[in-house]
Amino acid sequence: MYHHGNKVIDEQRQGEALILTHEGKKKLYIESYGCQMNFSDSEIVASILSKEGFATTKNPEEADLVLLNTCSIREKAEQTVRNRLSHFHAIKKQNPDIKIGVLGCMAERIKEKLLEEEKLVDIVVGPDAYRDLPKLIKEAEDGRKAVNVLLSKEETYGDVNPVRLGGNGVTAFISIMRGCDNMCTFCVVPFTRGRERSRNPQSIIDEAKILQDAGYKEITLLGQNVDSYLWYGGGLKKDFAKASEIAKASAVRFAQLLRQVAEAVPEMRIRFSTSNPQDMTEDVLHTIAAYNNICKYIHLPVQSGSTRILKAMNRGHNREQYIELIDKIRKIIPDCGLSHDMITGFPGETEEDHQDTLSLMEYVKYDFGYMFKYSERPGTYAARHFKDDVPNEVKTRRLTEIIDLQQKHSLYRNQQHIGKIEEVLVEGVSKKSNEHWFGRNTQNTVVVFPKENVKPGDFVKVKILECTSATLLGQIVH
Ligand code: 5AD
Ligand code: SF4
Repeated sequence: MYHHGNKVIDEQRQGEALILTHEGKKKLYIESYGCQMNFSDSEIVASILSKEGFATTKNPEEADLVLLNTCSIREKAEQTVRNRLSHFHAIKKQNPDIKIGVLGCMAERIKEKLLEEEKLVDIVVGPDAYRDLPKLIKEAEDGRKAVNVLLSKEETYGDVNPVRLGGNGVTAFISIMRGCDNMCTFCVVPFTRGRERSRNPQSIIDEAKILQDAGYKEITLLGQNVDSYLWYGGGLKKDFAKASEIAKASAVRFAQLLRQVAEAVPEMRIRFSTSNPQDMTEDVLHTIAAYNNICKYIHLPVQSGSTRILKAMNRGHNREQYIELIDKIRKIIPDCGLSHDMITGFPGETEEDHQDTLSLMEYVKYDFGYMFKYSERPGTYAARHFKDDVPNEVKTRRLTEIIDLQQKHSLYRNQQHIGKIEEVLVEGVSKKSNEHWFGRNTQNTVVVFPKENVKPGDFVKVKILECTSATLLGQIVH
């Protein structure tokens, strides 16, 4: 269900690597898997290592250092990385001096054991320890295996100006908070990325301005749970109650941050991901509605349409509350694009629960969605307390049903755009045709149109003429 854009998942966007080669420098090859946060983290890593004299390369065979930034969200994501690692055996055989590092969520989840299980790995570094990379690389160069998987109360990499890897020069990510406190019972993220903490709003605004000056036109504010953003001078969100009265009174929440960013870079489009139904407040919706440059699109994972399953998932909202939020969004932000994440075959999911999921989808008619079979993750509450008892065939069948329904809804939603004139930010050449550009409208739907006299980075008005379930097709109007 990869949809150019806001949410990127492991199976679809794996193994993107990059860039820039400068003669005479040490060479870093970095590959990213998983969510947008991981892609953003790789840009932070490249920045930290550029200060150590590393330039990035897209050819692992000429690298001195190979890093895989990994994902643990589903078993399949980890398997992909294991397969990829085996590919580097051959490269290491040819060049025994090459150092191989595993970063990210899998490093955090499996820790030192990765060194035993994957003999070629020299370095293991969790998501909060990237500043330690220079030291760890030196240890590895001295022939020692190096590990740092400490999680942090403070780390936001707020002062690191990311090296933009492999982008289109038009859209970029800015990470605004890290970690997740919600403890959904199926999810490994709270274990791999630790507790929530937010980045100084001024450093976020500064980064947005740097991007604006560099010609970027769209930023996506990133966090595992952006609605939970809370700046009160630094530290964990869960320690907010202990903060001083002054710190509390001047705290910045997500709606204020959005407003500040929207005003600081009025020429840029602003997106954000991911929202969480239980943490999304009405003032965020009013802020989205109030600013032209904040895109009218919300990725709002629900995971199931059954209140019984939502409870077992510890989602913090039931079906009715989610529907209430959807109704509020429709009222406050007419024409808002909506997408979801859904899991089929969570432990104990009955046919009736599955029907609840289908009927919720029918109610919302999402523009698009990301759908997954439940994958048991070791150490999570669900793994410890529930039996993974929905047979694989049943998970697959239910998944197919929700994907088919989503496709129908995507087509329906896309058809509503036909005949309209919409603002599109040109991002690059259409995958299917060299004579066409692709870009996205405010709802995050991909729009393809004949090139004419415009270029990536331009905002253009496109009249929508046709559509498929994935794409709008149109023509520039002058
Ligand atoms: N199994 C399947 N899907 C999962 N997700 C998170 N954990 C699991 C799991 N154990 C999905 C959720 C989440 C998205 C990023 O990945 O839908 O929103
Ligand atoms: Fe994967 Fe989640 Fe880690 Fe992102 S935060 S890399 S989706 S496990």
